[in-house]
Amino acid sequence: MTSVHNATRDATEATGQRLDLHHVGIVVADLDDAVTRYAPLGFVAAERIDLPEQAVRVAVFVAGPGVVELIQPTDLEGPIARYLEKRGEGMHHVAYRVDDLPATLDRLAAAGVRLIDNVPRRGLHGSRIAFLHPESCAGVLTELVEVSDG
Ligand code: CO
Repeated sequence: MTSVHNATRDATEATGQRLDLHHVGIVVADLDDAVTRYAPLGFVAAERIDLPEQAVRVAVFVAGPGVVELIQPTDLEGPIARYLEKRGEGMHHVAYRVDDLPATLDRLAAAGVRLIDNVPRRGLHGSRIAFLHPESCAGVLTELVEVSDG
């Protein structure tokens, strides 16, 4: 029987493309309160990052090889604020790490995957990110990340 780990490695090898789970994004109403509520799970020492251009503040928890991002909107007119107002707190997106984001977007577009971002935008820590439409990902907003250090 193939383990989950081996199945993942097989998928990456089969396509020649890296596809690592990178982070999960969770929208919260109040970052400090959410960090406190996550403490009993064992999450400590969250890094705090302000992203004014995306109108959010983020707390990042390390969770094994991936991270959990708690995302608080800082602008009532921003897309995260609208999401929070409409749906309340909860899972917002899943992100996968890829090696070459522009090439990956070209490949996905050619395969008929609906893209939100046709070209990468700036993410945390100098990374480049792009979102795929939930319609193409079983209802889940999906982010691709190309980290800056390769
Ligand atoms: Co994200």
